[in-house]
Amino acid sequence: MDLSDLTRDLDALRREAMTAVAAASDVAALTALEQDILGKKGRLTSVLRGIGALAPEDRPKVGSIANTIRISIEGAIAERGTTLRQGELAGRLRDEAIDVTTPGRPIRRGTLHPINETIAEIAEIFGRFGFVVYEGPEVEDDVRNFQMLNIAPDHPARDLWDTLYVDVEGHLLRTHTSPGQIRVMHQERPPIRALLPGRCFRYEAVDASHASEFFQVEGLMVDEGTTMGDLKGLLEEFAKAMYGGDKRTRFRPGYYPFTEPSVAFDVECIVCGGSGCPACSRSGWMTILGAGMVHPVVLQYGGLDPERYQGFAFGMGVERIANLRHRVGDLRLYMENDLRFLEQFT
Ligand code: DAH
Repeated sequence: MDLSDLTRDLDALRREAMTAVAAASDVAALTALEQDILGKKGRLTSVLRGIGALAPEDRPKVGSIANTIRISIEGAIAERGTTLRQGELAGRLRDEAIDVTTPGRPIRRGTLHPINETIAEIAEIFGRFGFVVYEGPEVEDDVRNFQMLNIAPDHPARDLWDTLYVDVEGHLLRTHTSPGQIRVMHQERPPIRALLPGRCFRYEAVDASHASEFFQVEGLMVDEGTTMGDLKGLLEEFAKAMYGGDKRTRFRPGYYPFTEPSVAFDVECIVCGGSGCPACSRSGWMTILGAGMVHPVVLQYGGLDPERYQGFAFGMGVERIANLRHRVGDLRLYMENDLRFLEQFT
């Protein structure tokens, strides 16, 4: 091998390298190519191995040619690398682009259950009169659910509430929200204006108008000099706000052990307007709640002096009010969690 052979080989390597660099299609291929030509065990090194066979005066010449070639290949690789990296970056930017103007996927929003929505409406109306919402437990004791409400253990009035007992120690599922009255009286001093919504339970044969689980809202007001006139005025305002000002209302005598006197409060049938229809049993009236003046014995059980304080209380069935609001005819629908029903109250 002489000088011209070696320079020819070097030149061939340079040309081949330049073509290969220009043809490298990605950064990885270019890196491999660089290794193959310029690496420690690369082809440039192996060509230069022939240098030992040359005359000593020729060796520096080859060294300088090889250096020039190395520099120009390195330059070509760097240039090609820049182009490829830019291309790859542009590709990634294109592929991974996020269009921030695309409308988001809508999140499905639920709605209030018609019972909760009705409770909220009731609370809003009484809230205008200063009533504050309290809650009592669903598992009550016989003492608060009955005895402190003036219903003795063997009193026939117990037959009004078909009770589900939890144990033999006197725990039961509250049959009404009225025990909340006792709890509020033990917790607050008059003036008291309390609203107690909650789930109640009774041992019932279930049909379109009877459920073993249902909701009530209890109201209690206690202050000095509270009268039946206050009760009447408040309930009339409630009926107006709930059903419209054009509806007639009436008080009828009723009986509850925890109020004296006791009344039923009726609103003109909102289905027939008072002429009589199946919805109101042809009476023209719908009873929406029971009420009365808190019995002195109940005030006493609540820790209040009945000589000083008077109060009124009322209790309404939420399903019945929701039925009237939404023209629902079967209260079992409220418990079934059927979306075809629930989605109608958006
Ligand atoms: N607790 C009664 C019931 O479940 C409803 C009721 C009537 C509540 C009269 C009262 C009231 O506070 O004064 O049937």
